[in-house]
Amino acid sequence: MADNHKRTLTFKIFRHDPDNPDSVPHYDTFKLDDRPFFSIYLAMEEIQQKHDPSLYYDICCRSNVCGSCAVNVNGQPCLACKSQTKDLPDTITIEPLRYFDHIKDVAVDKGRWFRDMIMRLEGWIHTSKPFNEKLENLQKADDQLPVYEAERCIECGICIEACAIAHLNPNYLGSAGMNRAYRFLIDTRDERSLDEFAEQLFTGDGVFGCEAMLGCRNFCPKEIPLPYHFGILRRRILKRVLTGK
Ligand code: SF4
Ligand code: FES
Repeated sequence: MADNHKRTLTFKIFRHDPDNPDSVPHYDTFKLDDRPFFSIYLAMEEIQQKHDPSLYYDICCRSNVCGSCAVNVNGQPCLACKSQTKDLPDTITIEPLRYFDHIKDVAVDKGRWFRDMIMRLEGWIHTSKPFNEKLENLQKADDQLPVYEAERCIECGICIEACAIAHLNPNYLGSAGMNRAYRFLIDTRDERSLDEFAEQLFTGDGVFGCEAMLGCRNFCPKEIPLPYHFGILRRRILKRVLTGK
């Protein structure tokens, strides 16, 4: 096993400010000593605090639960706070996710994409029952468990970044979008029928756009069983189309 305490790491970080007409995209290089439990986030923090305060990146929870810190590390999308240097070579290149609108350096705007996706799917419970703010709308545990599994999505955008179809088709709902649709379709409190999702799901921008390259499954940091959820969606849609039921 490599003695990481003695390694010197070379970080190459993408730098660019699209709002500054004088900014030219380039990489800056920084050298840091490796150490136990050193993450990409900790490296960027050290670079910002000790070498270059202008380095721009997103961070919030620092513990794999908010999804804000997703970046490409050596070409692979990951959470900066989860990705450990011990698993990486001596030279580490950090770049922004390519799919989303670039803000600055390694920060991107994922919020707009997720907001648009949620509006597109009307990603909230649709029910005719009056809302009672004093009473929780409880479900049976067996009904809640699969909803909980899909709800573990932290909206990091990594599944979209890792999907070739999403890069080719900007209207593609993507894994995070289909996971969101699945979450409401299986929710016993949501009264929408499958047909009410047809416009979004029964098309090449929805479940029929997926070509099962499985980048989403390979890179999702929460290990959500995305292909399993899409399989259920596809089966229900095909049954509906073929049998009318
Ligand atoms: S499904 Fe996984 S990879 Fe995709 S946004 Fe949610 S947590 Fe991130
Ligand atoms: S900072 Fe929240 S997931 Fe990394």
